[in-house]
Amino acid sequence: MSDLLAWLAALPLLGTGLWAWRRWHYPSFWLLAGYPVTALSVRASWRRVALGCGLTKKRQRWWFTTVPGAIASTGIVRVRRRFQRVAVDTKPFMWLPLPTRHGWHVTVWTLEGQTPSDYADAAERLAHSWGVHAVRVSSPRPGRVVLTATMRDPLITVDRLPSSPDLLKVTVGRLETGHPWIIDFRTVPHWLNAGATQSGKSNLANALLVGLAPQPVALVGIDLKGGVELTPYAPRLSALATCRSEAGRLLDDLVALMTDRMGLCRQASARDIWQLPPAIRPVPIVLLVDELAELYLMADKSEKDQIARTSTALLRVAQLGRAFGIYLFCCGQRIGSDLGPGVTALRAQCSGRICHRVNDPETATMTLGDLDPAALASARAIPAETPGVAIVAGQDGQWYRARSFHISEQVAEHAAHTYAHLTPSWEEITAHLPEPVTA
Ligand SMILES: Nc1ncnc2c1ncn2[C@@H]1O[C@H](COP(=O)(O)OP(=O)(O)OP(=O)(O)O)[C@@H](O)[C@H]1O
Ligand SMILES: [Mg+2]
Repeated sequence: MSDLLAWLAALPLLGTGLWAWRRWHYPSFWLLAGYPVTALSVRASWRRVALGCGLTKKRQRWWFTTVPGAIASTGIVRVRRRFQRVAVDTKPFMWLPLPTRHGWHVTVWTLEGQTPSDYADAAERLAHSWGVHAVRVSSPRPGRVVLTATMRDPLITVDRLPSSPDLLKVTVGRLETGHPWIIDFRTVPHWLNAGATQSGKSNLANALLVGLAPQPVALVGIDLKGGVELTPYAPRLSALATCRSEAGRLLDDLVALMTDRMGLCRQASARDIWQLPPAIRPVPIVLLVDELAELYLMADKSEKDQIARTSTALLRVAQLGRAFGIYLFCCGQRIGSDLGPGVTALRAQCSGRICHRVNDPETATMTLGDLDPAALASARAIPAETPGVAIVAGQDGQWYRARSFHISEQVAEHAAHTYAHLTPSWEEITAHLPEPVTA
């Protein structure tokens, strides 16, 4: 009896201990206590869950069944047992779930006729059945899908990671998988960064600027919000255009630079500037555009020619810039075909896509375009309380939820001043161009 009382008294202590463990060191709690229980329960409930989520298939199987027999003269029903072919619900084979930083992942063998999209369609149902924050589906090879479950939203708080030391590569945030979110201009040269107002576009541009500021690159900006966003970073910008005519001149300079670099590469038999000897390799340039739509909006017909010229120059930079070390990062609330054919063509050249919270489904569709429909649904579900959360098309062809590090204007401004001495002057960069240059 006293033993029982001692056990009863120990229970609250045990509960408090577990609570404190979970609260103060979640990773070890998850690995040693949470994960083993979860893995066993996921395996044990897989048949029911797969059935409920429509992931089973009926298969003909030989089954030992009981069939009603004749009634004997005594009135007793004689049952017969025999093998029979019957249709049985078959579940896909599942390996043992393995732990991840924020949950677990498991490989499942698809049944005949199933594709990964069947699992993607059932992802929300699976998440509810397992009581997890989200289930993501990927397919490493034909016939296998990997279900990745996150126990709670890993993007609620995102700690800043050290930036990448590689040229033109910046760690701007975290993916929901826990991996760093990296923008690498050498792999994906041009980016579209869309989202409603206050969704976190400028914060991401700040993160990019802070990451690129210590690198040997020239940063140039087009800020058609009258320069209010980018002017504080002017010490680290080689050129800044704050109105459409300045933007036009800057883009003309970039096109002329591109033509000049083309000649340089041709002479050296190089396909791009990265094949040139470092001594003659020109400095890479990253162009940040804030509020892209302002470049295209026409107040009256007199602006038509100017817009057409600017839009063509931007498109040429997007088409040819990669080989000649000119990269684009365009931010905008709407990046749609309603702004004109130039935008549609520009969008086609920007393979890097980032979609923050959007107000209308069209913007998500325009930004993420041909990605999985689940990515569009996910972009539309980003809540206003988590600015900086975005859907990102990854370099591996998958899409991810991600969140940028919070980089305040002050931090970005401080970085711009700290690395001001690394700013190549625009006059120097464009010195040998035949046309007049923008200051
Ligand atoms: N990753 C983040 N973590 C925390 N807060 C963030 C994050 N990203 C943005 N914010 C905050 O959200 C607010 C809006 O961010 P931001 O100015 O980047 O939005 P925006 O999309 O550029 O808006 P606008 O279109 O009006 O310029 C800011 O107060 C910013 O500090
Ligand atoms: Mg902004």
